Amino acid sequence: MQKGLNTICVHTGEVEDKLYKGAVSPMYLSTAYAYDGLETSIYPRYFNSPNQLNLSKKIAELEHAEAALIFGSGMAAITTAMLSILKSGDHVILQNQIYGGTRNFIIEECRQYGISFDFIDVNNWSELKSTLRPETQLIYIETPSNPLLEITDVKLVTEFAKEHDVLTMADNTFASPINQTLIDHGVDIVIHSATKYLGGHSDITAGAVASSHSIMKKVFSKAKNFGGSLADQTVWLLERSMKTLNLRVKAQSANALDLAEYLQQSEYVDHVYYPGLVSHPQHELAKSQMKGFGGMLSFDLNEKCDISKFFNGLKLIKNVLSLGGVESTVLSPEKTSHSLLTPEERKAQGINSNLVRFSVGIEDTGDLKRDLRMAFAASL
Ligand SMILES: Cc1ncc(COP(=O)(O)O)c(C=O)c1O
Repeated sequence: MQKGLNTICVHTGEVEDKLYKGAVSPMYLSTAYAYDGLETSIYPRYFNSPNQLNLSKKIAELEHAEAALIFGSGMAAITTAMLSILKSGDHVILQNQIYGGTRNFIIEECRQYGISFDFIDVNNWSELKSTLRPETQLIYIETPSNPLLEITDVKLVTEFAKEHDVLTMADNTFASPINQTLIDHGVDIVIHSATKYLGGHSDITAGAVASSHSIMKKVFSKAKNFGGSLADQTVWLLERSMKTLNLRVKAQSANALDLAEYLQQSEYVDHVYYPGLVSHPQHELAKSQMKGFGGMLSFDLNEKCDISKFFNGLKLIKNVLSLGGVESTVLSPEKTSHSLLTPEERKAQGINSNLVRFSVGIEDTGDLKRDLRMAFAASL
């Protein structure tokens, strides 16, 4: 029987405490296990310690995938998954606007592996068609995108990919499996920076890949060679954190919608980017593939506001890197996540110097609005 989301978050993948019958999973820290003649012995770098194996089940069930693996970071998950599909001579098509670190990996590393790539508007069938080559093996997407919350038309991309026998990989970090399960929409491989919503408390660096058994077999054979597994203490902490994933993400999504509507009315804000707003140009598309719109939004400060003074004026909302924690945070994509793009590239993507990326936490929105009001006043 299909379990509810809170039940999956709390119970799937628990390690049973057979010895003492404790309520929570025991933590298995051994790096050496008895050799029992199995095909693959237990060894943490083989991604098969008791805590890793069990937490993988929770992530797979949440993502409606057959299997999953947990990694030491989101980038370890992304790079391992990509290189388990791509080999020398292959070509990959990527969505124009993706996380800066993924973009850097492609630009700085792929050529030396003999892998070619194109960044395009993947929502455009004719652009997909004109970019496709006989060597194309993978289409990589991220939706909603970082930092402008653009929505990728997942149905369009996966239909195109299946028609041309190409695999699709999607970064589901921003939405989390609570707000969208992309495998249901035809995506082959889902990846996560678990550092964000899955961890949810800004104290874990981790990543995850979820897919079919046959694809995960390929991912595993690269993963054990690249060695990007997650330490079992952190695996345990991630399992503990994920028990509240549904509660947290639902609260963050509701808060984000409230704040997006509030910011839209503000004289200090020129534009709000949030797919839950009816005014978002892709609101209907978002509704068709998302169950909730997530805790991330961005906004352009009005030119009368100084962005540094605005950040300094915030007392409750923290100006820090990263996102997805229970606490609200803001950053300037120009100065941080997208600083490695040239000014022309940022301009082409619509990333202005007064753009604020806002990861909305679970605090009371009345307090967050008061903090924003004070910071707006301080920014003049
Ligand atoms: C959307 C997205 N994907 C992937 C990553 C990379 O994850 P990590 O920092 O855990 O390696 C990030 C990090 O900010 C991200 O925002």
